[in-house]
Amino acid sequence: MHVDWDLLKSHAVTAMKQAYAPYSKFPVGVAALVDDGRIISGCNVENASYGLTLCAECGLVSSLINSGGGRLVAFTCVDISENFLMPCGRCRQLLQEHGGSNLQLMTDTGIKPLSELLPWAFGPEEIDKRLD
Ligand code: THU
Repeated sequence: MHVDWDLLKSHAVTAMKQAYAPYSKFPVGVAALVDDGRIISGCNVENASYGLTLCAECGLVSSLINSGGGRLVAFTCVDISENFLMPCGRCRQLLQEHGGSNLQLMTDTGIKPLSELLPWAFGPEEIDKRLD
């Protein structure tokens, strides 16, 4: 599937500008291409109880499911300077669930599959295998 990375990045930047990050002052925006061609996005939403912060990826996954589901094909994450940012550990797991090991991510050193960022991943297949 063709990925327009510039378009994805522009969606991530637009989302980043909507972030609610008064505590960290570190706005984050993400965008992803879904396997049916739609583009979804998300921004971080913080909370006075710091630990309850929702990463931008949480918003993205919520948007994915609430707009019809599907599989994530390509993903990008940006900071306030519009530089690429690597997703945090917890969010790599969210991406594993909805994109799997072949999900493509833009990084400073080029496009990488999620399997490089989260090797030996635990995912839904592991549960399926063991519950048979
Ligand atoms: N953040 C994200 O939204 N996604 C990531 O993958 C990295 C971290 C947010 C959480 C918090 O609001 C801010 O960045 C600083 O950690």
